Amino acid sequence: MVTVNTPKTPPQWQLFEWIFDPTGYLERNQNQLGETFNAHLGVNLDGFVFVSHPDHVRTILSAPARCFDAGRANGILGPLVGDNSLLLLDGAVHKQQRQLLMPSFHGDRMVTYGEIITQLTRRAIDRQPQGEAFRVRSLTEEITMRVILQAVFGLNQGDQYETMRRTMSTFLDMTASPVKSSLLFLKSLQRNLGPWSPWGRFLAIRDQLDELLYREIQQRRQASLEERQDILSLLLLARDEEGQGMSDKELRDELVTLLLAGHETTATALAWALYWVHRVDSVRDRLIEEITALGENPDPMAVFKLPYLTAVCNETLRIYPVAMVTFPRIAKEPIQVGDYQFPAETVLAPCIYLTHHREDIFPDSHSFKPERFLERQYSPYEFYPFGGGNRRCLGMALAMYELKLALATLITEHEFTLPDQPPVKPVRRGITLAPSPGLSLIKTR
Ligand code: HEM
Repeated sequence: MVTVNTPKTPPQWQLFEWIFDPTGYLERNQNQLGETFNAHLGVNLDGFVFVSHPDHVRTILSAPARCFDAGRANGILGPLVGDNSLLLLDGAVHKQQRQLLMPSFHGDRMVTYGEIITQLTRRAIDRQPQGEAFRVRSLTEEITMRVILQAVFGLNQGDQYETMRRTMSTFLDMTASPVKSSLLFLKSLQRNLGPWSPWGRFLAIRDQLDELLYREIQQRRQASLEERQDILSLLLLARDEEGQGMSDKELRDELVTLLLAGHETTATALAWALYWVHRVDSVRDRLIEEITALGENPDPMAVFKLPYLTAVCNETLRIYPVAMVTFPRIAKEPIQVGDYQFPAETVLAPCIYLTHHREDIFPDSHSFKPERFLERQYSPYEFYPFGGGNRRCLGMALAMYELKLALATLITEHEFTLPDQPPVKPVRRGITLAPSPGLSLIKTR
């Protein structure tokens, strides 16, 4: 039987590397231990087998849902999203809840968001000063926060909306850097030592957000929901087989899940896209040419379908995938993956970052080359920035639509340059891989 190698360094040190230098940690281990290795990250899960060979990824992502639990392995997100979150559920309850949310993210539904995304992007960029450097993250967060609040609550202006937006941003910022992310990874830091302690502050902001969400839920319960298109209204109308609706706490957890999953990730992806497009002039020129050929005020769906724009967005998600790993899968029964035989309860983590950097599939993998997506079709186990199988990202269609429309609007209606700045590196932001926070652009037109 083939055994999986484990790093010799202590688990606490491995966790430290995983938090502060995640891509270095993955690459070093792969070089020293082979493409499949067993990490000990000293958190609630003991062993954590990273796999990256497409055949192995296929075995895991295409297995029937009953073979793995994934919600159970997402425990560290519990304090953020709550126990009823889709991210933490498994089995029949997960399936049922996913079916409930699915229609809101269906491709057809996305069409209605096209105009809104373009408008919200314009509003956000108009607020940035001309001729001065601005933080790319602030811009992309503003766009994606506004889009997700519109999709989830149907809100895009007014006091209630502004308060929600600010509170949500502060809440998400609590885990926004490597140091701050430690709050999620290290249970020992999760102690309320008063309002000035990190955990005390986290709980206080979470309470503020909850109050706003519960108030919104109460108001909606009393209002007429007919003709409303937003996700909260759909969830309020949903009934299970016994005719039971969702409780306030269930609704709260799902709303926070969508706000978190839908905002952070897309803001990061858009920031990376803006960086690459301005880093490689030839990419920007070709992209602008392709988009402007559609004429003024193009149909959002026509923009969405543009091949080079699609290739640029795919390459952005390939080179630094926002999620470095899919949700870890806990085997519910013994499983054979390639030459390895794993017992039940093994935690298997398809590593998106390592697969996306396999030189046999993506030659010169550290270079940004959108053309590769025009020259070759990749399988969903070679290129999988949104994971796969029964846990595949629910917001994939919305995220791609948003990424493309926001990028197209920004670069065709304005001009930007990259100022001299320290090299932009991928750094941890919560559980995502983001450009270093200082990344800025200058709006020249
Ligand atoms: C570029 C943006 C995004 C990326 C890269 C991304 C990536 C991912 C990944 C890798 C997973 C785990 C899949 C797996 O383990 O197989 C996931 C799950 C999920 N994502 Fe996204 N996501 C993005 C945007 C969004 C958006 C916009 C939403 C919703 C508004 C969203 C909602 C979710 C949800 C609810 C899940 C959990 C699905 C489940 O447990 O069944 N994501 N996403």
